[in-house]
Amino acid sequence: MSEEIDIKSIRNIVAAVKDTYNFDFGNYAITSFKRRIERVLSVFNCKNVDELIEKIKEDKIFFESFLKEITVNTTEMFRDPSFWRKLREDVLPLIATHQNIRIWHAACSSGEEVYSMAILLKEMDLLDRTQIIATDINQDVISIAKKGIYAIRNMELNQSNYERFAGKGMLSDYFSENDGFACMDRSLIANVNFRTHDLVLGSSFSKFDLILCRNVLIYFNMTLQDRVVELFSNSLFKNSFLAVGSKETIAWCKSIDKFSTFSIEEKIYQKIKE
Ligand SMILES: C[S@@+](CC[C@H](N)C(=O)[O-])C[C@H]1O[C@@H](n2cnc3c(N)ncnc32)[C@H](O)[C@@H]1O
Repeated sequence: MSEEIDIKSIRNIVAAVKDTYNFDFGNYAITSFKRRIERVLSVFNCKNVDELIEKIKEDKIFFESFLKEITVNTTEMFRDPSFWRKLREDVLPLIATHQNIRIWHAACSSGEEVYSMAILLKEMDLLDRTQIIATDINQDVISIAKKGIYAIRNMELNQSNYERFAGKGMLSDYFSENDGFACMDRSLIANVNFRTHDLVLGSSFSKFDLILCRNVLIYFNMTLQDRVVELFSNSLFKNSFLAVGSKETIAWCKSIDKFSTFSIEEKIYQKIKE
């Protein structure tokens, strides 16, 4: 049963999470955050918000499950195939002129986007000289990404995306099937460093040639979008690239004057100023 909740209750939940675990959801877009909280109350059979807050504070394992439900982890391999074609045809050839390539997948969820990138790089003969950092706030999805084992029933959509991307072979060239699961080829992630990272805290790693942060900004309010895009701007070399999701834009962010639009259709921006 889901409960209609008010802003005060949302603030109390946000405060409990911040005080206990130092995750700050205060700048998540309120409408979708409220919808997720309503879902959480129903999924975990909480009678009301007070019960939810008690559980969050007292049970760390419950909190991990809460975190997984509160964030939307939906992802696909080669999601938006035209985006991946654009990377192959126009973005990666520019980056490939560098001796080493550095890519950050910010908020990579269960890793499908990372395996897509590794396959694309392999098909372009760039995988061996690329370093990838793949991060997400959620430890559970990072563990799935590291294992690279996906239910075979989910591979149908991934395969159809790969066909629309017009890859060199078949997606099945990159996984073996075992007992209803697709086990991704481990060599694809030899140069991938998976780790947890909270974009809200705003710490950076180093500089990158390409940052992908797709289908994440949509869950943040303008204040947080601004901060995160500034973090990305500081984490990019001059002339390198930032890609966001098909329904997202950085056009209204304060750092926009540091970027030019490289592809309006695929939401790819190029950093033009330090
Ligand atoms: C919808 S998925 C997007 C996955 C992938 N980028 C794609 O486009 O298919 C959104 C991801 O953002 C992550 N996320 C949400 N808030 C975050 C934060 N503050 N820091 C890092 N990751 C976050 C979630 O855990 C989730 O895995």
